[in-house]
This record gives sequence, C-alpha cells and structure tokens, in this order.
Amino acid sequence: MTILELDTILHKELYGQEIVHRIVINALRGHLTSSNPPKALSMSFHGPPGTGKTYMTQMIAKFLYKKGDQSEFYHFFNGRNDFPLQEKVNDYKEELYKIIINSLQKCERSMFVFDEVDKMPEGLLNVLVPFLDYNTWVKSWRHASYSVNTRKAIYIFLSNTGSTRIIQHLLTLWEKGKLRTMARIQDFENLISVGAFNEKGGFYHSDTIDSNVIDHYVPFLPLEEKHVKRCLKRAFKDRGVEPTDEMIEEGLSHVTFGPPPHNLYAYAGCKRLEQKVAANIYARRKEKLEF
Ligand SMILES: Nc1ncnc2c1ncn2[C@@H]1O[C@H](COP(=O)(O)OP(=O)(O)OP(=O)(O)O)[C@@H](O)[C@H]1O
Ligand SMILES: [Mg+2]
Repeated sequence: MTILELDTILHKELYGQEIVHRIVINALRGHLTSSNPPKALSMSFHGPPGTGKTYMTQMIAKFLYKKGDQSEFYHFFNGRNDFPLQEKVNDYKEELYKIIINSLQKCERSMFVFDEVDKMPEGLLNVLVPFLDYNTWVKSWRHASYSVNTRKAIYIFLSNTGSTRIIQHLLTLWEKGKLRTMARIQDFENLISVGAFNEKGGFYHSDTIDSNVIDHYVPFLPLEEKHVKRCLKRAFKDRGVEPTDEMIEEGLSHVTFGPPPHNLYAYAGCKRLEQKVAANIYARRKEKLEF
C-alpha cells in the first residue's frame, strides 16, 4: 500500500480525527521517504475509549506489511496483560529487549505497539531509550560483533491518559463557538505530554519521556453523535444490511453521551457497536422467521 492509498482510506474510514490523520500521514511520510532516518519513529496516541487508537494502529500495520497486524514484524504488547507485576519489571525489561533486538535483526522496519501504557509497571519503558534515541546502532548482546540498525523501526504507545484534558479543551472551544476542525495540534500536544508524564503508569517519571524521544503526541478527540452514526451505518453495511433510520436510532440508544449539560460526546466512542449491530440484525431475522 502506498502512503497516498493510506491517506485515501483514512479520509473514508477514520471519522472525526482530522488532527490524527494529518499528524500520522506526515510522520509516516517523513520517516519512510528517508532511506536513512535520523531516529526511529515514535508516536503516542491519547484519547477516550473507542475513538480509533487501536484501529489506526491496525491501519498503519496494513500499510507497512502485506499481512498487516498478522505480520511477524508487528509486535503488540498490552500493559496490563503482558506485564502485570511491578516486581518483575527487570525480567520484563530483559524479555522486551530480546524481542526488539531479534525482530530488528530480521526486519529493520519492525513495528512495536504498547497498549494500555498507563497500566504498565513504572520504569519498564526505560528499556526502549537506546532504541528510540538518535543512536544508529545497538549492539546485539548475543553476537558481540553484530549491531542492529534501530532507526527504521516504528513505536506506538496507546493510552487513555490525557482524555479528560482533551475533552475539556474541546468543550471550551465549543462553548466559544469554535468548530472541532479549528482545534490546533499545538494546544493538545502540550496538554497530553504534561498529563502523560504526571499520571501514574508506564510513562510516569520515565526516561523515555524525559529524553524527549517521543516524536509525536497524537490527540484522539471524543466522538460526537454524527460520528457514531457513521460507525453504526458501516457496521450494518459490513453485514450486508442497508440500515433504516429506525435501525440507526435503535443502535444509538445503546450509546451514552456526556459530560452534562451538553452531552456532546459518546463516552465509549464507537466501541462494541459491531456487537450491538450484530445482535440487532439477528433479532430482526429471527422475528421474520417466526411470523
Ligand atoms: N474515529 C473512528 N473512525 C471510524 N471508526 C472508529 C473510530 N473510532 C473507533 N472506531 C470503530 O470502533 C472500534 C473500536 O475502536 P478502537 O478499538 O480503535 O478504540 P480505542 O481508541 O483503541 O479504545 P481503547 O482506548 O478503549 O482501547 C474500531 O474497531 C472501529 O471499528
Ligand atoms: Mg485500543
């Protein structure tokens, strides 16, 4: 897939995340067009649940690899499930180091995704510093004579850290009559990096942030009703059903909006809508069969 194709897909399939779209496309373009980038690309995705963080990561994987997130060079770690214990942080560090070195030896363009960074043991991410820095090579501990190029890899961190600040800022804009699309990247960048550093979890007082190795803080904005409707429509269409307005309204009835008094944003974004839609379609088919 070319970067233009990814751009087109994002226009069509990623709803209400213009800032995200712009940052990610530019970051990838910058990193991939250089045959010798100065450092690995690292992006930190922040925002409320169900706003497209994991979804975006899968799109990037599809763009990089034929097999997408099934590629052997795509590595996905979940902070809570894969690294549950603070007291084992040193073991985790060693494991992670080995996985990264091994993957980079096979493919310099490897991709590493860390979900729920805020649930990771503190200090774990420090093991990434040599991989994310402006170092060209990291020596493999196994083959002393062999070094690995670290600069073509891509690292993505996912968390809900900073969500409250993102929502608050967007609401302030809305109250001033400013459109969502008028929000500026710079406003959010500052909000999130401060939040990520101070809220407990993987980034908490970590060297990873300290040494400014995160290239882009990417704000995922809360989704509004119109975006959720688009998710619902797509979920029906994916199952070969052309939804009526009534079916969309039924789907919307499962979605909670907040915060009061304006209730502009879906609390869980487009999360779990596919399951709701599947249940709805099933119930309708069953009804038809019974009559
Ligand atoms: N902005 C969006 N545009 C289009 N579809 C979306 C968007 N956000 C979410 N979706 C849909 O909702 C599903 C769930 O979203 P996703 O898993 O990416 O949420 P998330 O931001 O990673 O949430 P969490 O913080 O809970 O992990 C996606 O698979 C996708 O179908
Ligand atoms: Mg996710």
